[in-house]
Amino acid sequence: MSLHKNNSHYSKTAKLFHWGFVILFIYGVAKQVDNINQLEDTTFFRFEIIFAIIFLLLLIIRFIYMKLTQKTSLPKDTPKAQKIAAKIVHNGMYLFLGITVISGLLIGLLFWLNIKDGALIEIIIDIHEIVINILYWFIGVHILAASFHRLKNDGVWSSMVPFLKENKTNKIKK
Ligand code: HEM
Ligand code: HEM
Repeated sequence: MSLHKNNSHYSKTAKLFHWGFVILFIYGVAKQVDNINQLEDTTFFRFEIIFAIIFLLLLIIRFIYMKLTQKTSLPKDTPKAQKIAAKIVHNGMYLFLGITVISGLLIGLLFWLNIKDGALIEIIIDIHEIVINILYWFIGVHILAASFHRLKNDGVWSSMVPFLKENKTNKIKK
């Protein structure tokens, strides 16, 4: 029995993917390559590539799982423009996460092929950096939107976030 309005409940797997990725992403950014010369260190290079491949595979699995089995917690009466905005931000985060990792792997491939400077690798590093900066903005908007739903008490926040849960009695209102 659920007290939620029209909200779906995300499965435990969906929550594990969501929060697991938040940790993986913060880790990935924290240990970012500060300087391309760091890639000369074979152990560092190998670790970076293995991390990126695992990240990409998990991202694909998460995307397929979420699209096949879960749906947004937005209430049914949400204005169309807001539903579209949520879709753009969610899909955008998948897209930019994907491009960040793939461009990182491409940098690794070029480096491994001994193409360590020149226009090609510079363009791909630029893409890598521009895309991750767009991603930061999307994540910022996403967290703002989640906080907005928390203030609205419409159940969206609690469907995914394990802390500062909404008061259950607020969700019976129709
Ligand atoms: C690296 C940071 C984050 C990324 C990349 C991210 C990504 C996503 C994505 C793609 C979804 C759509 C469901 C899915 O496919 O899993 C989602 C849902 C959600 N996220 Fe995040 N998220 C991040 C951080 C956060 C944080 C910090 C919060 C809250 C403080 C949050 C709250 C939510 C909520 C409430 C939903 C459900 C939205 C709905 O059902 O329409 N997320 N997130
Ligand atoms: C999940 C995977 C990855 C994440 C989250 C990530 C994150 C980042 C971040 C945050 C930056 C700094 C961007 C900025 O300054 O605005 C960066 C730069 C860079 N990354 Fe990645 N990266 C990933 C994968 C890789 C891989 C696999 C490689 C290559 C083996 C790579 C090579 C580089 C290089 C060369 C730079 C530029 C360093 C410089 O400023 O000279 N990245 N990455």
